[in-house]
Amino acid sequence: MEKGKIEEYAKHHTTDHSEIIKELISVSEKNLEHTDMLSGRLVGRLLGLLIKMSGAKRVLEVGTFTGFSALTMAEALPDGGELFTCEYNERYEDIARTFFKKSEAGSKVRLLMGKALETIPTISGSFDFVFLDADKINYPNYYEMILPRLEQGGIMVIDNVFWSGEVLDSESDKARAIDELNKMIRNDNFVEQVMLPVRDGVTVLRKK
Ligand SMILES: C[S@@+](CC[C@H](N)C(=O)[O-])C[C@H]1O[C@@H](n2cnc3c(N)ncnc32)[C@H](O)[C@@H]1O
Repeated sequence: MEKGKIEEYAKHHTTDHSEIIKELISVSEKNLEHTDMLSGRLVGRLLGLLIKMSGAKRVLEVGTFTGFSALTMAEALPDGGELFTCEYNERYEDIARTFFKKSEAGSKVRLLMGKALETIPTISGSFDFVFLDADKINYPNYYEMILPRLEQGGIMVIDNVFWSGEVLDSESDKARAIDELNKMIRNDNFVEQVMLPVRDGVTVLRKK
């Protein structure tokens, strides 16, 4: 079975993006490089469904890029829901802010510019849903910082936990950091988790 073909098949049988998200993807692709950073339809829909099924209301995202996953999650949030999203690269800010303004769900989004390890402590209160998708080198630091602020029964989703398979030999610093986080989660008695072979690997965990 070819991975590329079966992934296309999975995407084809997964709910499509909203029109505004399609526009965001197209504008990102026209104006920027590295648009493979967009987490894509499978991860986006997984996030949206988990938010709807869990009834999450207060979401933290680490790693906004141009706002694809932030807006996808905001669309799934109920009225009154709030999503804080952290980004430090000003090159991506314009597109993200434009689409947060343009879409109805965007009013639930608060974009925090700056290094996430510095901006997360400025947000008060706890979260019931977290999506971790920023600098891989800091994955273990984000986990240690955020888990105490995740409510009991809250969900955390972590993207790129395979790092294109490099976690198997952990030769680069990023792969080592991701592998370290994967091991921390496996050994953490306060959480239960599943590592899904979706795209580049996605861990979904629940705080007990
Ligand atoms: C993989 S992309 C996020 C993709 C986004 N979640 C999506 O699905 O469209 C990772 C983002 O994290 C940002 N980032 C990297 N290091 C960061 C840091 N220390 N603080 C805040 N953002 C950071 C990058 O600039 C990049 O836009």
